[in-house]
Order: sequence, then C-alpha cells, then structure tokens
Amino acid sequence: MNVSYLRDRPEFLSSLAPAIVAHYRSLVPEESMESRNAKLRSHLNKDELPIAWVAHSGDEALGMAALRVHDLEGREDLTPWLGGVFVRPEHRRRGVASQLCRVVEDKAWSLEFETLYLFTTDQQSLYSRLGWELWQKALWRGNPVDIMVKKR
Ligand SMILES: CC(C)(COP(=O)(O)OP(=O)(O)OC[C@H]1O[C@@H](n2cnc3c(N)ncnc32)[C@H](O)[C@@H]1OP(=O)(O)O)[C@@H](O)C(=O)NCCC(=O)NCCS
Repeated sequence: MNVSYLRDRPEFLSSLAPAIVAHYRSLVPEESMESRNAKLRSHLNKDELPIAWVAHSGDEALGMAALRVHDLEGREDLTPWLGGVFVRPEHRRRGVASQLCRVVEDKAWSLEFETLYLFTTDQQSLYSRLGWELWQKALWRGNPVDIMVKKR
C-alpha cells in the first residue's frame, strides 16, 4: 500500500467520491456527487490546508483522509482537524485508516501545529489506539460526537 497526496493522484476521486456519498447518504442526505467532488477538489493541495491523501494499492484506491482548517460546524475556534477518514468497505480492518491517520498527523507536526483535533460518532477505539484522547462532547447534525485531541 502507498499513500499519496490526492493532488498527485486525482484520478482516484472517481472511485472514492461515490463510496463516500453512499456511506453518508442517511446522515448528509443533501450531499450530491457534485458537491462531494467539489469539496474534495478543494483538497488538491500539498502545503496549505485543506490537504487530502489517498491510500492505494497500485491503481486501486483504498481510502482517504484529510487535514483541514475546520471540520465541525460551530467549533471554528479549534484548528486544524483530521477529517474525511474513509476506507472502502472491502479494504477495511487491514490498517489502511491507521496508516492514513499517521500521515496526516506527521504533516500537521511538520507544519508546526501543536494540537490536532477530530470528531467521531463511533470510532473512538480506533483513534484511542492511535494515541488520541477524548476531549469534549459535541453535536454534529443532531448526533452526539466526541471531539478527540492529539498533541505533538
Ligand atoms: C472507520 C474506518 C475509517 C476504519 O478504517 P480501517 O482501514 O478499517 O481502519 P484500520 O484497519 O486501521 O483499523 C480498524 C480496526 O481494524 C483493526 N485492524 C487493523 N489491522 C488489522 C489486521 N491486519 N487484522 C485485523 N484487524 C486489524 C484495528 O485494530 C482496528 O480495530 P479497533 O477499531 O478496534 O481499534 C472505516 O471503517 C470507514 O471508512 N468507515 C466509514 C467512515 C467512517 O466512519 N470514518 C471515520 C469517521 S471519524
């Protein structure tokens, strides 16, 4: 498996975006392929946020993750965020997300950020295993989420 900047492999958008839209359909029903593609296209950066990475095996996209200025509406006081962590269902539980998270963290530290945030509805155990700590409760679209934090 390799992890590349999405900017270097934008062709993977065509397989990742539909899977992401399908996964979040019940939570984000207003999202279209066009809006998701536009959002991901805004992440085609390497040294300024937002930045996205794609995990791939040869020419097959496995998953992606991003480093964003903001991710949770209402918590614009916190920055930056690990967000957009998504692995295609057939490639899960093989460490793909774990590797993506490490790449995002390393980039945040190399950009001299001292603290990184994320929010999750149900993946607390994954992130705890990766060294993240529970920090605060919040709401995302009416759903309870945990904000987690990682220090440099
Ligand atoms: C959550 C998600 C990103 C995890 O992706 P993943 O690639 O399966 O994650 P990993 O393989 O790194 O870790 C997942 C679990 O598999 C386990 N695992 C990792 N490698 C493994 C291996 N080789 N064999 C068996 N289990 C393994 C990990 O220990 C982890 O278990 P834990 O959650 O109990 O700690 C993926 O399920 C997903 O895309 N879900 C939908 C979107 C989503 O919820 N995103 C997160 C938003 S916060």
